[in-house]
Amino acid sequence: MAVKSRALLPEMCAVFFGVRFLVICVVLLCVSQPQQYACDPKGNPVLRGFPFCDTSLTDAERVEDLISRLTVQEKITQLVSTAFNVSRLGIPAYEWWGEGLHGVAISPSVDFGGDVAAATSFPQPILTAGSFNTALWNSIGQVVSTEGRAMYNQGRSGLSYWSPNINIVRDPRWGRTQETPGEDPKLTSTYAVYFVKGLQEGHYDGSQIHTAGGPKRIKVSACCKHFTAHDLDSWKGYDRNYFDAKVSLQDLEDTYNPPFKSCVKEGQSSSLMCSYNRLNGIPMCTHYELLTLTVRNIWGFNGYIVSDCDAVALIHEYIHYAPTPEDAVSYVLLAGMDLNCGTTVLYHAQAALDKGLIWEELINMHLRNLFSVRMRLGMFDGDPETLPFGSLGPSDVCTTGHQNLALEAAQQSIVLLKNDRSTLPWNKTKKFKLAVIGPHGNATQEMLGNYEGIPCKFTSPLDGIKALLGGNGQSVIYAPGCADATCRDGNLFPSAVTAASEADAVVLFVGLSQAQESEGRDRESLRLPGKQEELISTVLDAVKGCPVVLVILSGGPVDVSFANDDERVGGILWAGYPGQAGGQAIAEIIFGDVNPGGQLALSWYHENYTQMDMSNMQMRPDLSAGYQGRTYRFFMGSPIWEFGYGLSYSKFSHAIVEAPSTLTAPTLHQQLCHKDVSNSLKTVQCSKEDKDACEDLYFKVRVRVKNEGPMDGSHSVLLFSKSPLAGSNGTPLKQLLGFQRVQLESGSEEEVIFQVSFCIDLGTVKADGVQTLDIGTHTIIAGTAHHPIIIEVAHSDHEQS
Ligand SMILES: *[C@@H]1O[C@H](CO)[C@@H](O)[C@H](O)[C@H]1NC(C)=O
Ligand SMILES: *[C@@H]1O[C@H](CO)[C@@H](O)[C@H](O)[C@H]1NC(C)=O
Ligand SMILES: *[C@@H]1O[C@H](CO)[C@@H](O)[C@H](O)[C@H]1NC(C)=O
Ligand SMILES: *[C@@H]1O[C@H](CO)[C@@H](O)[C@H](O)[C@H]1NC(C)=O
Repeated sequence: MAVKSRALLPEMCAVFFGVRFLVICVVLLCVSQPQQYACDPKGNPVLRGFPFCDTSLTDAERVEDLISRLTVQEKITQLVSTAFNVSRLGIPAYEWWGEGLHGVAISPSVDFGGDVAAATSFPQPILTAGSFNTALWNSIGQVVSTEGRAMYNQGRSGLSYWSPNINIVRDPRWGRTQETPGEDPKLTSTYAVYFVKGLQEGHYDGSQIHTAGGPKRIKVSACCKHFTAHDLDSWKGYDRNYFDAKVSLQDLEDTYNPPFKSCVKEGQSSSLMCSYNRLNGIPMCTHYELLTLTVRNIWGFNGYIVSDCDAVALIHEYIHYAPTPEDAVSYVLLAGMDLNCGTTVLYHAQAALDKGLIWEELINMHLRNLFSVRMRLGMFDGDPETLPFGSLGPSDVCTTGHQNLALEAAQQSIVLLKNDRSTLPWNKTKKFKLAVIGPHGNATQEMLGNYEGIPCKFTSPLDGIKALLGGNGQSVIYAPGCADATCRDGNLFPSAVTAASEADAVVLFVGLSQAQESEGRDRESLRLPGKQEELISTVLDAVKGCPVVLVILSGGPVDVSFANDDERVGGILWAGYPGQAGGQAIAEIIFGDVNPGGQLALSWYHENYTQMDMSNMQMRPDLSAGYQGRTYRFFMGSPIWEFGYGLSYSKFSHAIVEAPSTLTAPTLHQQLCHKDVSNSLKTVQCSKEDKDACEDLYFKVRVRVKNEGPMDGSHSVLLFSKSPLAGSNGTPLKQLLGFQRVQLESGSEEEVIFQVSFCIDLGTVKADGVQTLDIGTHTIIAGTAHHPIIIEVAHSDHEQS
C-alpha cells in the first residue's frame, strides 16, 4: 500500500478583530490528491540523489543541504503551519497543526474517514491527572502516537500534535481547565514528562538517560503549550488575546514556568507554543528573554517554537504592539519563534526582508529548527513503509487494548467526593428499581470535552448502568430532567419527579458542558448552570427515603456544597469528562466492581471564590486587600475539597518509616550556583563543586501504606513538605514533593520510597525568583503522618553572617 499524503490547503478565512473577540475561522479544503513523500526512491529516482535524502549523513548535514537548495520565497512558505510543497525537490506540503490532547483529535492535519473513521478517546487530562499514575499517562501518550502514526500511514494525519496543554490552573473559572493536569506545578510537570515521552519515544519509567539534543528519531512530535502564564480566555472585560498577565518573578519561577521547564528538559519535547497573552507588557511570541535566553539557551530546548494560532497577527492588528505587520514578523523571528500558526509571516516576511528588519540567515536558523524535527519524524528517510512505525495501520487504531486503556483511565481517575454511611457501592444483584435522572444521564459527546476526536464508540452512563445490571430483576427508569446541561427551564421536571418517587435508588447526573466552559469561554459562577440545582432539590423532595447519589460531569469544579451538606445525598462522584468509556467506569464504581481511587488535581471552592478578580495573576495571598491567594499552596480560605482529596471504598493509612531528622543546608553560595540559576546570575562565581552541591543532595523517604478497609483498591501516596516559613512571606502552605500509586489488597501493606531532592524539592522561591532552603524545621507529610526534618545552617553561612 503506497502512502498518500494529501495536499492540505487550509485557508485562514477572515480574521475579525471587530468587537472584542478574535474569531478564527479555518476552512479546510482537503484535496485528496496523491502526492509522493519526500526522498521517494520509487516515484522519482532523481530525488533520491539529494544529500538531504542521504540517511548516512547526519541530520544537521541533511538539513543544511536542504535549506541551501531553497529560494528565499520557498523558505518563507516553510515558516507557517500550512507549509507549502517544494515539488521541484520532491518535498510535499505539510500541515503542522494536529491535536492529540486525549486521543487523536479533529484538527487541521487530521482527517477521520476511510479505514480510520475513529480513534480511542481518553478522559480529559483534568480527570486523568487525578490518577496520580505516571505509567498510565505514559501509556496514553503511547496509544495516541500509535494511532496517530497509523493514521499518518493512511494519509490522514500529520505527525506533529500540539499537545499537551500544561498551563497551571490558577483559577477554576478558566474554560480550558479541562485540558490541563490541574493546579500543581509538580503534578503538571510530571504529567508533561510522561505524556510527552509516550508521544515521542514510548515506554518511560523515569530511569532513562536523556539524549543530548533529544532522541534522534521520534514517533510523533509533542508540543507543550501555552508558554507562559496563559490561563484566562474570556472573562468579563478581558480576553486572552488582549490580556496582559502581570506576573511576579516569584510566581513565574515557582508556578507558571516549572511545567515548561520539565517538559523541555526531562520530557525533551520537540515543540513549545508561545501564547497569545502578554507577560508584563510583552507579547509572549516576541519574548526574547524567555523564548531564546531561557527556553533555548538555559533549558537546552531542541525543537521548534510555534505561535498560538494567529498570535502574530494579533501583535500588530489587535494590540498594536508592532506598528506594521513587518515589524510583528521581525519581532517574533528575532525573539525565537520558528513557526507561525497563521499566515502573517507568509504574507509579510518578504517586506520585512526588503526593509532590512530580518535577514535570510535568521530565516535559515528557524528552518533548521523546523526541518530538524521533520527529519526526526523520519519524513526524509524514504518510503515510510520500510521505516519504524511504517507497518502501523487501521488495525492498530481503536484496538481492544486501546479501548480498555480508555476505560482504565476513567476507572482509575474518577473521584469519590462524599460517601456518607457507606451509601456506595450499591449491590447489583439485589432486585430494585433505579432512577437515572439528570441532563448527563445519557451523555455521549459531552463525555469527551474539547479537543476531542471521533471516538471508537460511546458508553453513556445509562448504557453502562444497563449493561452492568443486565436487567435481572432490576429496572432502570431514565428521566433527563433538563434537555442539556444549560438547563434553561423545568419543563422536564415532572417526569424526573415521577421517576424519583417510584425508585428504590436514584442517581443524578449533573454538571457542565462546553456551553459553560470551553476555549474562549470562562465561567463567572462556580454553581451548577441554569435550573440544575432546582432539579436536584426537586428530586430530593420527591424521593421516598431511598439512597441518592450525585455524579458530576465537568472539567472545572462546581460549588455543590449544598449537596455535600444535604444528608439526603449519600454519595457524590466527580467523573470529569471521562471519555468514550466513561459511562462504563461510572457504573462499575457505583456498583462496586471498581473501587474509586482518583484524587482531585484541582481544589473545589465555594461560590464566594468568584469575588476574587480573575485577572489577578498573583498566586500569593494579600489579605489586607481581601485577596485569598490561589491553589492549595497559597489559598488562605477553606475550599470545599482540597487538591489531592479523594475517598475510597476502603481506608488507607500511612506511616513515615524512614526519613532523616537533621540535614545541613549547602551554603547559600552553593545554592545560588544551582545549575539554571547560575546561568542567569552571571555575577556569581561558581566552581563545579559549588554547582554540584545542591544537585547531588538527595534523601530517602519511606512511607508504609496499608489498606485497612474491606475492599481491594488502589491509592496514590502524596508526599508533601511544609517549610518552617509556610504561609508567611509568600512561602507555600505546603507543596507536593512526589506521588506514587499503589494497588493493595484488603488488609495488605506496601512501602513506597521517595527520592527527595534537598534543594529542589524542599526549597522555596523567594521574591527575587531564586529558590533557596529555609532554615528550621520542615515537615514531611503523607496522609495524616507528619515527620519533622531540621535543616541547619551550613558552617560557612554562620561565618558570613
Ligand atoms: C504544490 O503546490 C502547488 C500550489 O502551491 C500546487 O499547484 C501543486 O499541485 C502542488 N504540487 C503537488 C505535487 O502537490
Ligand atoms: C447483594 O444482594 C443479594 C440479593 O439480595 C444478596 O444475596 C447478597 O448478600 C448481597 N451482597 C452484599 C455484599 O450485600
Ligand atoms: C442516548 O443517547 C444516544 C446518542 O445520543 C441516543 O441514540 C439514545 O437514543 C439515547 N437514549 C435514550 C434512552 O434517550
Ligand atoms: C468562602 O466562604 C467559606 C466559608 O463558607 C470560607 O471558608 C472561604 O474562605 C471563603 N472564600 C473566599 C474566597 O472568600
